[in-house]
Amino acid sequence: MPKLKVITFGCQANELDSARIAGLLTGQGYLLTEDEAEADLIILNGCSIREKAEQKLYSRLGSLRALKGRRPDLRLGVAGCLGQREGEHLLKRFPYLDLVVGNGEHLAEIPRFLSLRQPAAATAEPTGLFPEEAEPARDSQCRAWVGIMEGCDNFCSFCVVPYTRGRERSRHPDDILREVRSLRDRGYREITLLGQTVNSYGCKFDPPAPFAELLRRIDAVVSPGMRVRFTTSHPKDVTPDLACAMVELPSLCEHIHLPVQAGSSRTLARMARGYTRETYLEKIALLRAAVPDLAITTDIIVGFPGESETDFAETLSLMQAVRFDGCFAFKFSPRSGTPAAELPDQVQEPDKATRLSRVLALQDEISLQRNQAIVGRVVEVLADQGLRKRATGLAAGRTRENKIVHFSGGAVEEGNLVKVEIMQARPHHLKGVLIASS
Ligand code: SAH
Ligand code: SF4
Ligand code: F3S
Repeated sequence: MPKLKVITFGCQANELDSARIAGLLTGQGYLLTEDEAEADLIILNGCSIREKAEQKLYSRLGSLRALKGRRPDLRLGVAGCLGQREGEHLLKRFPYLDLVVGNGEHLAEIPRFLSLRQPAAATAEPTGLFPEEAEPARDSQCRAWVGIMEGCDNFCSFCVVPYTRGRERSRHPDDILREVRSLRDRGYREITLLGQTVNSYGCKFDPPAPFAELLRRIDAVVSPGMRVRFTTSHPKDVTPDLACAMVELPSLCEHIHLPVQAGSSRTLARMARGYTRETYLEKIALLRAAVPDLAITTDIIVGFPGESETDFAETLSLMQAVRFDGCFAFKFSPRSGTPAAELPDQVQEPDKATRLSRVLALQDEISLQRNQAIVGRVVEVLADQGLRKRATGLAAGRTRENKIVHFSGGAVEEGNLVKVEIMQARPHHLKGVLIASS
């Protein structure tokens, strides 16, 4: 049987798409392999969010060219956001590529392209979803991504996603619930609902089917102890109804990833984010009033065009005001075709680098303090790596707040829900001892 390797370069949605590609092709007789050298087909599932993400794929492609030189029957494809953005250019630039597909329904064209004798590209704007029939080939037996919507209508001025994933469209609730039930029946312990702006789910249905309603329906079907997460949320779509759902629904974990991007309203307006510093802080207050122990993580971009030292200082002060549990910070990367790439007053690289390290240093300090507040508590941990898999002899897992815990004290298997007493805090993880396995 032919062997397939799928390499993921992007976000969780990209990872889910890789599992979808793998599911589709294993359904057609491919076997999955980790080993490039024995693969008959390699799909690079690309990301375009920042320049660096694209460069990573291009350099990997360079090394695969040599492999293909030695094994001319090896077939190579590019899929995902980079495939969507570059399309046929890629076939011209890399003549040894066999296929290029974009996102959504285009992913399902891979088998047809493989049956053609010539290189082919499918990159018209995606308008559909990945077909329901193909089950994603997931590699974890306890945690699963569940796609609930695709695309984005926000057109933040720095971002390629609306161009690479098309307009926002939601999956039918019955299809989502069927998948959740099936994951429950197969023993999955945690599901993460995925979308570019997951909390605007269903707003285009007639009548609208609000996200909080979907959460209620999901909570009603999952088994006791199962965890439900969702990501990524957009601040403008945080509603009192969502805050209520977070209090009411036992399955919903006490964590939200709520990218703020910048602390200055002037910058936020130029980013076209649809909220100000003040309205973002109001959303945080709404969520914290509902769930006082809520863990909040965020994304921050430094060096957006025109960001002055004063604007940047507002990002730092916002971080101090919110006290995020964690943050992914990025240097602004101009993306051709997006309005921000054309803005005047691009920030120089050394300034971006300094700002990035200041954000990271401040966040480490805050994360450490937030984590220190948990020391001495007994928390519920879903183990995702058993003892035997870790060289350190420690098991690892995550709390409901999505904090990583390394712990000792017994043989734990992937998927076990255990109680751990937290003994030490670090900025990016906690250390503890096993108290009880369930
Ligand atoms: N839909 C999510 C974000 C998806 S992209 C949201 O709206 O919050 C993930 C993160 O990448 C973004 O939150 C942003 O911080 C970062 N990002 C996106 N485009 C970028 C760019 N051009 N340069 C630097 N970082 C970028
Ligand atoms: Fe990109 Fe903005 Fe959409 Fe997020 S909300 S995917 S940052 S356009
Ligand atoms: Fe990258 Fe596309 Fe995700 S650009 S971050 S793979 S939505």
